[in-house]
Amino acid sequence: MTSPASDMQPAFRTAVVPAAGLGTRFLPATKTIPKELLPVVDTPGIELVAGEAADSGAQRLVIVTSPGKNSVVAHFVEDLVLEGKLEASGKTELLNKVRVAPSLLTVQSVVQEQPLGLGHAVSRVEEVLDDSEDAIAVLLPDDLVLPRGVLEVMGRVRRKRGGSVLCAIEVPEDRVSSYGIFETEIVPDAVNPNVLRVTGMVEKPDRDDAPSNLAAAGRYLLDREIFDALRRIEPGAGGELQLTDAIALLIKDGHPVHVVVHRGSRHDLGNPGGFLRAAVDFALERDDYGPALREWLEERLSPNWAAPQLTTDE
Ligand code: G1P
Repeated sequence: MTSPASDMQPAFRTAVVPAAGLGTRFLPATKTIPKELLPVVDTPGIELVAGEAADSGAQRLVIVTSPGKNSVVAHFVEDLVLEGKLEASGKTELLNKVRVAPSLLTVQSVVQEQPLGLGHAVSRVEEVLDDSEDAIAVLLPDDLVLPRGVLEVMGRVRRKRGGSVLCAIEVPEDRVSSYGIFETEIVPDAVNPNVLRVTGMVEKPDRDDAPSNLAAAGRYLLDREIFDALRRIEPGAGGELQLTDAIALLIKDGHPVHVVVHRGSRHDLGNPGGFLRAAVDFALERDDYGPALREWLEERLSPNWAAPQLTTDE
Protein backbone atom coordinates (compact mmCIF):
# COMPACT_ATOMS: atom_id res chain seq x y z
CA MET A 1 0.00 0.00 0.00
CA THR A 2 1.28 3.48 -0.76
CA SER A 3 0.89 6.03 2.00
CA PRO A 4 -0.82 9.38 1.37
CA ALA A 5 2.56 11.06 1.92
CA SER A 6 4.26 9.08 -0.86
CA ASP A 7 1.28 9.85 -3.07
CA MET A 8 2.24 13.52 -2.83
CA GLN A 9 5.75 12.88 -4.17
CA PRO A 10 6.11 13.44 -7.92
CA ALA A 11 6.99 10.16 -9.63
CA PHE A 12 10.04 11.77 -11.25
CA ARG A 13 12.15 14.92 -11.02
CA THR A 14 13.72 14.98 -14.47
CA ALA A 15 11.80 15.29 -17.72
CA VAL A 16 13.70 14.58 -20.91
CA VAL A 17 12.83 16.17 -24.24
CA PRO A 18 14.69 14.70 -27.21
CA ALA A 19 15.17 17.55 -29.69
CA ALA A 20 18.12 16.46 -31.79
CA GLY A 21 16.28 15.69 -35.04
CA LEU A 22 16.90 17.48 -38.32
CA GLY A 23 13.23 18.34 -38.90
CA THR A 24 13.48 17.40 -42.57
CA ARG A 25 9.71 17.30 -42.98
CA PHE A 26 9.65 21.04 -42.32
CA LEU A 27 12.31 22.04 -44.83
CA PRO A 28 12.99 24.69 -45.98
CA ALA A 29 11.85 26.38 -42.71
CA THR A 30 14.09 24.12 -40.62
CA LYS A 31 17.19 25.05 -42.59
CA THR A 32 17.84 27.68 -39.90
CA ILE A 33 14.98 27.31 -37.36
CA PRO A 34 14.82 24.19 -35.18
CA LYS A 35 11.49 22.40 -35.60
CA GLU A 36 10.89 22.57 -31.84
CA LEU A 37 10.83 26.40 -31.99
CA LEU A 38 8.17 26.66 -34.69
CA PRO A 39 5.23 28.49 -33.10
CA VAL A 40 1.87 26.97 -32.31
CA VAL A 41 0.13 30.36 -32.71
CA ASP A 42 2.87 32.27 -30.85
CA THR A 43 4.42 29.70 -28.53
CA PRO A 44 7.12 27.21 -29.58
CA GLY A 45 5.96 23.60 -29.39
CA ILE A 46 8.78 22.79 -26.96
CA GLU A 47 7.55 25.46 -24.52
CA LEU A 48 4.12 23.80 -24.48
CA VAL A 49 5.74 20.44 -23.74
CA ALA A 50 8.00 21.97 -21.05
CA GLY A 51 4.89 23.50 -19.46
CA GLU A 52 3.27 20.07 -19.36
CA ALA A 53 6.40 18.62 -17.72
CA ALA A 54 6.44 21.40 -15.10
CA ASP A 55 2.71 20.94 -14.38
CA SER A 56 3.26 17.25 -13.79
CA GLY A 57 5.86 17.91 -11.09
CA ALA A 58 9.16 17.86 -12.99
CA GLN A 59 11.82 20.15 -11.56
CA ARG A 60 14.38 19.83 -14.30
CA LEU A 61 14.17 19.61 -18.08
CA VAL A 62 17.00 17.89 -19.92
CA ILE A 63 16.90 18.74 -23.61
CA VAL A 64 18.82 16.41 -25.89
CA THR A 65 20.09 18.56 -28.75
CA SER A 66 22.36 18.05 -31.70
CA PRO A 67 25.32 20.25 -32.58
CA GLY A 68 24.11 23.60 -33.90
CA LYS A 69 20.71 23.55 -32.18
CA ASN A 70 21.65 25.81 -29.27
CA SER A 71 18.72 28.13 -29.87
CA VAL A 72 16.36 25.46 -28.49
CA VAL A 73 18.05 25.76 -25.09
CA ALA A 74 18.45 29.55 -25.46
CA HIS A 75 14.66 29.83 -25.55
CA PHE A 76 14.65 28.82 -21.87
CA VAL A 77 17.29 31.34 -20.82
CA GLU A 78 16.30 34.80 -19.54
CA ASP A 79 16.90 37.58 -22.07
CA LEU A 80 17.39 40.58 -19.79
CA VAL A 81 17.94 43.03 -22.66
CA LEU A 82 14.65 42.08 -24.31
CA GLU A 83 12.85 42.06 -20.96
CA GLY A 84 14.28 45.50 -20.14
CA LYS A 85 13.05 46.94 -23.45
CA LEU A 86 9.57 45.49 -23.02
CA GLU A 87 9.41 46.77 -19.45
CA ALA A 88 10.58 50.26 -20.43
CA SER A 89 7.94 50.50 -23.14
CA GLY A 90 5.18 49.24 -20.84
CA LYS A 91 4.53 46.08 -22.86
CA THR A 92 3.63 44.07 -19.79
CA GLU A 93 1.63 41.39 -21.55
CA LEU A 94 4.52 40.57 -23.90
CA LEU A 95 6.97 40.76 -20.99
CA ASN A 96 4.95 38.16 -19.11
CA LYS A 97 4.91 35.93 -22.19
CA VAL A 98 8.69 35.97 -22.66
CA ARG A 99 9.21 35.27 -18.96
CA VAL A 100 7.22 32.02 -19.03
CA ALA A 101 9.80 29.66 -20.60
CA PRO A 102 12.75 30.59 -18.32
CA SER A 103 10.60 30.32 -15.20
CA LEU A 104 9.06 26.88 -15.82
CA LEU A 105 11.87 24.64 -14.55
CA THR A 106 15.64 24.29 -14.55
CA VAL A 107 16.86 23.54 -18.06
CA GLN A 108 19.97 21.65 -18.99
CA SER A 109 21.12 20.14 -22.25
CA VAL A 110 23.08 17.15 -23.39
CA VAL A 111 24.34 16.79 -26.93
CA GLN A 112 23.70 13.80 -29.14
CA GLU A 113 26.60 14.02 -31.56
CA GLN A 114 25.23 11.53 -34.07
CA PRO A 115 21.61 10.93 -35.15
CA LEU A 116 21.58 7.31 -33.96
CA GLY A 117 17.94 7.16 -32.86
CA LEU A 118 15.56 7.96 -30.00
CA GLY A 119 17.00 5.19 -27.82
CA HIS A 120 20.47 6.63 -28.22
CA ALA A 121 19.20 10.15 -27.44
CA VAL A 122 17.62 8.97 -24.17
CA SER A 123 20.74 7.00 -23.22
CA ARG A 124 22.72 10.27 -23.26
CA VAL A 125 20.78 11.50 -20.23
CA GLU A 126 22.09 8.92 -17.75
CA GLU A 127 25.28 10.89 -17.12
CA VAL A 128 23.39 13.92 -15.78
CA LEU A 129 20.99 12.04 -13.48
CA ASP A 130 21.46 12.11 -9.72
CA ASP A 131 21.99 8.76 -8.03
CA SER A 132 18.75 9.26 -6.12
CA GLU A 133 16.62 9.48 -9.27
CA ASP A 134 15.00 6.13 -9.97
CA ALA A 135 12.85 7.20 -12.93
CA ILE A 136 12.67 9.77 -15.72
CA ALA A 137 9.83 11.11 -17.82
CA VAL A 138 10.41 11.39 -21.56
CA LEU A 139 8.21 13.76 -23.56
CA LEU A 140 8.52 13.77 -27.33
CA PRO A 141 8.06 17.36 -28.50
CA ASP A 142 6.29 16.21 -31.67
CA ASP A 143 3.36 15.00 -29.58
CA LEU A 144 0.86 17.28 -27.89
CA VAL A 145 -1.29 15.10 -25.65
CA LEU A 146 -4.42 16.99 -24.60
CA PRO A 147 -5.84 17.80 -22.18
CA ARG A 148 -2.72 17.81 -20.02
CA GLY A 149 -2.51 15.44 -17.09
CA VAL A 150 -1.67 12.01 -18.47
CA LEU A 151 1.78 12.07 -16.83
CA GLU A 152 0.19 12.42 -13.39
CA VAL A 153 -2.00 9.38 -14.10
CA MET A 154 1.08 7.51 -15.30
CA GLY A 155 2.86 8.50 -12.06
CA ARG A 156 0.03 7.05 -9.99
CA VAL A 157 0.22 3.80 -11.96
CA ARG A 158 3.97 3.56 -11.35
CA ARG A 159 3.51 4.17 -7.63
CA LYS A 160 0.94 1.40 -7.46
CA ARG A 161 2.44 -1.14 -9.85
CA GLY A 162 6.13 -0.22 -10.12
CA GLY A 163 8.19 -0.41 -13.28
CA SER A 164 7.62 1.76 -16.32
CA VAL A 165 4.42 3.36 -17.59
CA LEU A 166 3.71 4.68 -21.08
CA CYS A 167 0.91 6.56 -22.76
CA ALA A 168 -1.05 4.87 -25.55
CA ILE A 169 -3.55 6.13 -28.08
CA GLU A 170 -5.73 4.20 -30.49
CA VAL A 171 -4.70 4.78 -34.11
CA PRO A 172 -6.37 3.63 -37.35
CA GLU A 173 -5.07 0.25 -38.53
CA ASP A 174 -3.52 1.77 -41.63
CA ARG A 175 -1.36 4.05 -39.43
CA VAL A 176 0.25 1.46 -37.14
CA SER A 177 3.45 1.39 -39.22
CA SER A 178 4.21 4.99 -38.08
CA TYR A 179 4.30 4.16 -34.36
CA GLY A 180 5.59 1.94 -31.59
CA ILE A 181 2.74 -0.54 -31.11
CA PHE A 182 1.78 -2.34 -27.88
CA GLU A 183 0.66 -5.86 -27.17
CA THR A 184 -1.41 -5.67 -24.01
CA GLU A 185 -3.57 -7.61 -21.59
CA ILE A 186 -6.11 -6.40 -19.08
CA VAL A 187 -5.11 -5.85 -15.48
CA PRO A 188 -7.70 -7.79 -13.46
CA ASP A 189 -7.56 -5.53 -10.38
CA ALA A 190 -7.38 -2.21 -12.26
CA VAL A 191 -10.04 0.30 -11.23
CA ASN A 192 -9.27 2.33 -14.34
CA PRO A 193 -10.07 0.26 -17.48
CA ASN A 194 -7.60 2.42 -19.43
CA VAL A 195 -4.68 0.92 -17.51
CA LEU A 196 -3.33 -2.16 -19.34
CA ARG A 197 -0.32 -4.36 -18.83
CA VAL A 198 2.12 -4.40 -21.75
CA THR A 199 3.27 -7.85 -22.83
CA GLY A 200 5.22 -6.73 -25.90
CA MET A 201 6.11 -3.69 -27.96
CA VAL A 202 7.25 -3.37 -31.56
CA GLU A 203 8.47 -0.31 -33.46
CA LYS A 204 6.68 0.58 -36.70
CA PRO A 205 5.33 -2.88 -37.59
CA ASP A 206 3.69 -3.72 -40.91
CA ARG A 207 -0.07 -3.54 -40.63
CA ASP A 208 -0.36 -7.35 -40.82
CA ASP A 209 2.17 -7.91 -38.04
CA ALA A 210 0.87 -5.30 -35.59
CA PRO A 211 -0.25 -6.82 -32.27
CA SER A 212 -2.92 -4.10 -31.79
CA ASN A 213 -3.78 -0.56 -32.80
CA LEU A 214 -2.54 0.89 -29.50
CA ALA A 215 0.35 3.24 -30.27
CA ALA A 216 2.97 4.97 -28.14
CA ALA A 217 2.00 8.63 -27.94
CA GLY A 218 5.25 10.28 -26.93
CA ARG A 219 4.95 10.17 -23.12
CA TYR A 220 7.09 7.69 -21.21
CA LEU A 221 7.70 7.27 -17.48
CA LEU A 222 10.74 5.04 -17.44
CA ASP A 223 12.36 3.23 -14.59
CA ARG A 224 16.08 3.83 -14.39
CA GLU A 225 16.60 0.26 -15.57
CA ILE A 226 15.95 1.57 -19.08
CA PHE A 227 19.59 2.70 -19.29
CA ASP A 228 20.81 -0.85 -18.80
CA ALA A 229 18.39 -2.05 -21.51
CA LEU A 230 19.53 0.75 -23.85
CA ARG A 231 23.10 -0.53 -23.53
CA ARG A 232 21.96 -3.96 -24.69
CA ILE A 233 19.96 -3.15 -27.84
CA GLU A 234 21.11 -3.34 -31.44
CA PRO A 235 20.00 -0.98 -34.24
CA GLY A 236 16.37 -1.75 -35.14
CA ALA A 237 13.70 -0.09 -37.34
CA GLY A 238 15.28 2.41 -39.73
CA GLY A 239 18.74 1.25 -38.62
CA GLU A 240 18.37 3.32 -35.43
CA LEU A 241 18.71 2.50 -31.74
CA GLN A 242 15.02 2.45 -30.79
CA LEU A 243 13.60 3.25 -27.35
CA THR A 244 10.84 0.77 -28.20
CA ASP A 245 13.37 -2.07 -28.45
CA ALA A 246 14.81 -1.25 -25.01
CA ILE A 247 11.29 -1.28 -23.54
CA ALA A 248 10.61 -4.61 -25.27
CA LEU A 249 13.77 -5.93 -23.60
CA LEU A 250 12.58 -4.77 -20.17
CA ILE A 251 9.29 -6.60 -20.71
CA LYS A 252 11.15 -9.75 -21.74
CA ASP A 253 13.21 -9.50 -18.55
CA GLY A 254 9.99 -9.47 -16.50
CA HIS A 255 10.07 -5.77 -15.65
CA PRO A 256 6.49 -4.44 -15.21
CA VAL A 257 5.39 -2.14 -18.04
CA HIS A 258 1.90 -0.65 -18.22
CA VAL A 259 0.13 1.80 -20.49
CA VAL A 260 -2.47 4.41 -19.75
CA VAL A 261 -4.75 4.63 -22.80
CA HIS A 262 -5.33 8.33 -23.41
CA ARG A 263 -8.89 9.04 -24.56
CA GLY A 264 -8.44 12.77 -25.11
CA SER A 265 -6.95 14.33 -28.19
CA ARG A 266 -3.42 14.47 -29.56
CA HIS A 267 -1.69 16.60 -32.14
CA ASP A 268 1.30 15.46 -34.15
CA LEU A 269 3.63 18.44 -34.53
CA GLY A 270 6.10 16.28 -36.45
CA ASN A 271 4.75 17.15 -39.90
CA PRO A 272 3.29 20.31 -41.45
CA GLY A 273 -0.23 18.87 -41.75
CA GLY A 274 -0.44 17.91 -38.08
CA PHE A 275 1.23 21.16 -37.05
CA LEU A 276 -1.37 23.22 -38.91
CA ARG A 277 -4.21 21.39 -37.18
CA ALA A 278 -2.63 22.10 -33.81
CA ALA A 279 -2.16 25.77 -34.66
CA VAL A 280 -5.79 26.14 -35.80
CA ASP A 281 -7.07 24.25 -32.75
CA PHE A 282 -5.06 26.44 -30.35
CA ALA A 283 -5.93 29.66 -32.18
CA LEU A 284 -9.66 28.89 -32.16
CA GLU A 285 -9.51 28.61 -28.36
CA ARG A 286 -7.99 32.08 -27.97
CA ASP A 287 -9.90 35.30 -27.38
CA ASP A 288 -7.46 37.37 -29.43
CA TYR A 289 -7.40 35.28 -32.61
CA GLY A 290 -10.27 32.80 -32.27
CA PRO A 291 -13.34 34.80 -33.33
CA ALA A 292 -11.78 36.32 -36.49
CA LEU A 293 -10.22 33.00 -37.49
CA ARG A 294 -13.52 31.17 -37.06
CA GLU A 295 -15.32 33.75 -39.17
CA TRP A 296 -12.71 33.53 -41.94
CA LEU A 297 -12.67 29.71 -41.85
CA GLU A 298 -16.45 29.57 -42.18
CA GLU A 299 -16.29 31.84 -45.18
CA ARG A 300 -13.34 29.96 -46.67
CA LEU A 301 -15.05 26.59 -46.24
CA SER A 302 -18.49 27.66 -47.43
CA PRO A 303 -19.68 26.20 -50.75
CA ASN A 304 -20.09 29.78 -52.00
CA TRP A 305 -16.42 30.51 -51.61
CA ALA A 306 -14.72 31.31 -54.90
CA ALA A 307 -10.99 31.66 -55.24
CA PRO A 308 -10.17 35.30 -56.02
CA GLN A 309 -9.21 35.70 -59.64
CA LEU A 310 -6.59 38.04 -61.00
CA THR A 311 -8.23 40.62 -63.27
CA THR A 312 -6.39 40.59 -66.57
CA ASP A 313 -8.65 43.11 -68.37
CA GLU A 314 -7.22 46.47 -69.20
C1 G1P B 1 8.59 7.91 -32.15
C2 G1P B 1 8.69 6.55 -31.46
C3 G1P B 1 7.40 5.77 -31.70
C4 G1P B 1 6.22 6.58 -31.21
C5 G1P B 1 6.19 7.96 -31.91
C6 G1P B 1 5.09 8.84 -31.32
O1 G1P B 1 8.59 7.71 -33.54
O2 G1P B 1 9.81 5.84 -31.96
O3 G1P B 1 7.45 4.54 -31.00
O4 G1P B 1 5.00 5.89 -31.44
O5 G1P B 1 7.44 8.63 -31.75
O6 G1P B 1 5.04 10.07 -31.94
P1 G1P B 1 8.88 8.91 -34.60
O7 G1P B 1 7.56 9.61 -34.79
O8 G1P B 1 9.90 9.79 -33.99
O9 G1P B 1 9.34 8.24 -35.84
